[in-house]
Amino acid sequence: MEGLRLVFLGPPGAGKGTQADKLQESFGIVRVSTGDILREAVTQGTTLGEVARLYMDRGELVPDDIIISLVRERIVNLTEFILDGFPRNVSQAEGLDRLLSTLNKELTRVIYFNVTDDEVKRRLLARRVCPQCKRVYNLITDPPKVDEKCDFCGTTLVTRTDDNDETIGNRLKVYHEQTQPLLEYYEKKRILKRIDGDMDPKGVYNALLEVLKDDLYKKER
Ligand code: AP5
Repeated sequence: MEGLRLVFLGPPGAGKGTQADKLQESFGIVRVSTGDILREAVTQGTTLGEVARLYMDRGELVPDDIIISLVRERIVNLTEFILDGFPRNVSQAEGLDRLLSTLNKELTRVIYFNVTDDEVKRRLLARRVCPQCKRVYNLITDPPKVDEKCDFCGTTLVTRTDDNDETIGNRLKVYHEQTQPLLEYYEKKRILKRIDGDMDPKGVYNALLEVLKDDLYKKER
């Protein structure tokens, strides 16, 4: 089996994590989220976590060398994966190319979720997460059944520390300046597919399956 190696690209709050979770659940392709790895390190209070927190709370990117070695550790033994939130600038994309070449692997597809800045703000200010089982909710589009409690484990939901007006503004600025140039980078490699991420989660998932249908067909053969 060849295996699918995907990158999910898009602004903060585009729904990368939501869609990667669905694809992982349906097709068993492992989601590797650099944001989740870093948040886990912050929660554990490791040295990495202490350093990362300084950048994350300001909405800035954690240094490339730290991120690339984290990703290497996670994907070295995987045949297929979805990279969610990585790469985030051209230097990380070049680092990923070098890493994959040493592993004798190639990216199958890069999916870009196109979402407007206004929709990003609306979604992120309404996002709540379960600190226990990590499920993600949205008070507007995907609320929990009982007020601010996780449907699965009953834990009180929390707001991510970077989901506030000021940090969201900075994350968007960093995204437009540093991450958006990756569209051209992957366009040139002819592996970029664009999706309208402003639709509801089901509509976005259907669009995702449509652009991946040939790759998923090959995977299942
Ligand atoms: P990270 O955790 O990667 O955050 P992000 O890229 O800002 O993305 P988000 O997790 O906020 O959004 P998402 O697109 O996954 O949306 P979600 O599905 O949750 O990074 C955080 C920080 O870590 C960075 O700022 C940086 O400091 C550091 N970092 C991480 N990776 C790094 C790297 N490679 N290099 C350097 N630093 C790095 O959805 C959002 C909300 O919307 C949810 O409430 C959801 O329920 C809802 N929703 C989802 N889809 C829809 C829809 N279609 N319609 C309506 N609502 C929806």
